[in-house]
Amino acid sequence: MFGKRKKALVVYHTKTGHTAEAAEAVARGLEAGKVSVTVKPVKNLQPQELEEYTILAVGSPTRGARPARVVKRFIKGLDRKALKGKKATVFSAYAGFRGKATLRRLRRLLRRRGAKVVLRGVAVKAGAPLSLWKGPQASPEDVARLEELGRSLARKA
Ligand SMILES: Cc1cc2nc3c(=O)[nH]c(=O)nc-3n(C[C@H](O)[C@H](O)[C@H](O)COP(=O)(O)O)c2cc1C
Repeated sequence: MFGKRKKALVVYHTKTGHTAEAAEAVARGLEAGKVSVTVKPVKNLQPQELEEYTILAVGSPTRGARPARVVKRFIKGLDRKALKGKKATVFSAYAGFRGKATLRRLRRLLRRRGAKVVLRGVAVKAGAPLSLWKGPQASPEDVARLEELGRSLARKA
């Protein structure tokens, strides 16, 4: 009666925890959409693990209006077709400016490895400039936007 659940990977980097919390919110939305979800820091992910998943959400803090280097390097290090056929979106935490620039960069990196970016993604304001201390949490409205991103991604999959 029930088909096999689709599998999603939510992968992220974080220093002060905001992007990790954003990843959990996206994961809650995916789960609400009846998708099976794994959440992992990019540092613990091996490229071959990606093969198991048909849905991918990638998150990074905004650093100098770009994704963190560790995230960029991971994606750039993948084979050209490594993400082919995967439905993807992106998210970012930023302290005050250029969070959307990070989303654009992430989308482009994913497309270049073959992913189908089906949603533009969500940037949430959180944290301190240069992440020198933890700083404020994302607003409840922004957390809700992240959860909705996960639900929408599940619907597109
Ligand atoms: C090197 C560095 C550069 C940063 N550049 C930006 C930036 O361009 N724009 C911005 O809004 N925040 C910037 N930040 C702040 C982080 O994006 C913000 O603190 C975010 O919430 C951190 O996410 P995390 O808790 O997942 O590490 C920067 C932080 C660091 C460490």
